[in-house]
Amino acid sequence: MEYKITEAEFEEISALVYSESGISLTSGKKSLLVSRLSKRLRELDLESFHSYYEYVVGGGRDEEFTRLLDLVSTNKTDFFREPKHFEFLQEVILPDLEQTKQIRIWSAGCSSGEEPYTIAMVLSDWMSERGAWDCKILASDLSTRVLDKAAAGVYDIGTVGDLDPESVRRHFLRGRAEETDKIKVKPHLSRMIAFKRINLMAERFPIKTPLDLIFCRNVMIYFDRPTQEQLVSKFHRHLKPGGYLFIGHSESLHWIANQFHYVAPTIYLKEK
Ligand SMILES: C[S@@+](CC[C@H](N)C(=O)[O-])C[C@H]1O[C@@H](n2cnc3c(N)ncnc32)[C@H](O)[C@@H]1O
Repeated sequence: MEYKITEAEFEEISALVYSESGISLTSGKKSLLVSRLSKRLRELDLESFHSYYEYVVGGGRDEEFTRLLDLVSTNKTDFFREPKHFEFLQEVILPDLEQTKQIRIWSAGCSSGEEPYTIAMVLSDWMSERGAWDCKILASDLSTRVLDKAAAGVYDIGTVGDLDPESVRRHFLRGRAEETDKIKVKPHLSRMIAFKRINLMAERFPIKTPLDLIFCRNVMIYFDRPTQEQLVSKFHRHLKPGGYLFIGHSESLHWIANQFHYVAPTIYLKEK
């Protein structure tokens, strides 16, 4: 069965997605919604997008709601995506914290884990030359599907194709037998990371310790301006004075400079 979505159906589903996740589905996303949701409608034997909406909001359907968010969110990520941030971490931030040898980082909207594992690789390489630090990375996402993948730490070998082979040997285990096309992150990286489901729309985040760094890259691009502003204020509160916020390269949040000091493209400092 070919599904078609009416304007009213698109509006009720996008309003639901927006209120829970902050993700704005502009009308350009209509065909994306139809292509991603049609299979689910077929599985549930539902005849229209409105019946699906009713199914989701009908009591106790948390699981289906999570599934809907999984279907509409974009989870694209990579190891060492936007590498300038990791160079900045290594060349500026880590030397600055050398005295305390302690760092607290949040990867907010971590998708399937490539971002927090990249941070852990940089920290591990740093420590291997200078001795152990107290490092903790909180990695969170709204989607349980990507978080499960992140926590498992297993990836196709192609995902590390652009990394230095020596670094791959240091930080990953090669799969054996039928799994030679897979790699798994080594425990010295996963030990640094706690994965947790956090909705960035939540009023409060379950984070008590002030943070040195927040990575929230390629997440706010799906939010509208008021949602972005609220979130940036919450990030500001969770950072230590002298802490940094990293955003994605395609995110132009020039107004962010009201609260943060601009350091370099997409890198912002909370003044001391
Ligand atoms: C494109 S990925 C970015 C991954 C990584 N930060 C990077 O730059 O490679 C965007 C992630 O944001 C997550 N996301 C979207 N809305 C969210 C929300 N309200 N709370 C938490 N995570 C959210 C999605 O589930 C998705 O995994």
